[in-house]
Amino acid sequence: MASRLIYTYQNTFHNRPEKIFMAPCRINLIGEHTDYNYGLALPAAISKYIAAAVGKRNDRKIHLKSLNKRYDVEVDLDSISNSIENGWGNYPLGIFWVLQKRGHKLPFGLNIVYQSNVPIASGLSSSAALLNLTAFIASTMYDIPLKPEEIALLAHQSETEFNGLQCGVMDEFAIALGKKDKCILLDCKDNSFEYKDIDFKDYSLAVIVSNVRRNLVVSPYNTRVEECKKAVELLKPHFNIQSLSDLKVSDLEKCKEIIGDDVIYRRVRHIVSENQRVRDFVESSKNGDVNKMADILNKSHESLRDDYEVTGEYLDYIHEISLKYGALGERMTGAGFGGSSIALIKKSEFETFKEKVSRDYDHKFGIDPLIFLADICDGLIVKNL
Ligand code: GLA
Repeated sequence: MASRLIYTYQNTFHNRPEKIFMAPCRINLIGEHTDYNYGLALPAAISKYIAAAVGKRNDRKIHLKSLNKRYDVEVDLDSISNSIENGWGNYPLGIFWVLQKRGHKLPFGLNIVYQSNVPIASGLSSSAALLNLTAFIASTMYDIPLKPEEIALLAHQSETEFNGLQCGVMDEFAIALGKKDKCILLDCKDNSFEYKDIDFKDYSLAVIVSNVRRNLVVSPYNTRVEECKKAVELLKPHFNIQSLSDLKVSDLEKCKEIIGDDVIYRRVRHIVSENQRVRDFVESSKNGDVNKMADILNKSHESLRDDYEVTGEYLDYIHEISLKYGALGERMTGAGFGGSSIALIKKSEFETFKEKVSRDYDHKFGIDPLIFLADICDGLIVKNL
């Protein structure tokens, strides 16, 4: 990626970039929609990247260019706001806005050229990758030392306050904390984390991108966040809880009586059972029980489909045909509403699996899915030129 980035940077700005930065994207093995409920998740960074060539400017402008976009965005550091004209630039610009809101003086502008091989709006967190990457660029170029978890929190503040998505911290943490061959057990109650070795024996994780594009800000994502908040308000007088993640599976019967409303109850049941599935998944992996892990993945998909209602017909069909063509377990990963899935598949059967799933999916929807084996990798990278 680097040579095309450097070439474009030089052609556009007539000098050499100073550094190249890279951010991976992520999958989430288990623990979906739990992060904004202060629960557990088990994501990992994977080696699909957004990279950027970066250099300083002599004025106070941020000039953003992307090899994947048709137009550049240029904004003065002193007048950053979220506007329609800034288009895709609203994501990176939020980082500079947050840093200044936090009181940092940013003494010069930057030229940034991005290039991505992360499928956009695919549920693999291309937006969090762009935010983390830009947060990392800003902290490095302005010499504001931030630990990976602080980069993640900066990116998250930008996404919620500047871009208006009421998301949790899972994506940002997965990308900033990524480690080769490790999953990250994240407790969103206090943002503590632990690296886990997950051994799938002779199985591998395949990623299936549905190639159905969606925009989370205008999807029911924020509606789910509101439904969960409503449930907490209904349950608080009866349980000593701050969030739905303080509830246990054995509390569910009582929750059902208190809540009354079937939809809100099913949202609660998903969150509570999903947190338990994260614990069970980690426990099963310690015991090397791949069948149990696969079963938990399937249960998670069913819960996201029937109780949380975020899968949709594309991901449900992928679930169905993946199991038919040899996946031991399969579930949607990320927010849902289109996006991606992960499947546990025997390494030796991957090519046949890929061919059959692609064929059936294309036959039904006229869309070619993207299917590849997940390569779990390190997080943020910087190289001096
Ligand atoms: C999106 C959000 C995350 C998380 C997932 C669902 O990826 O950005 O914070 O809520 O959906 O688990």
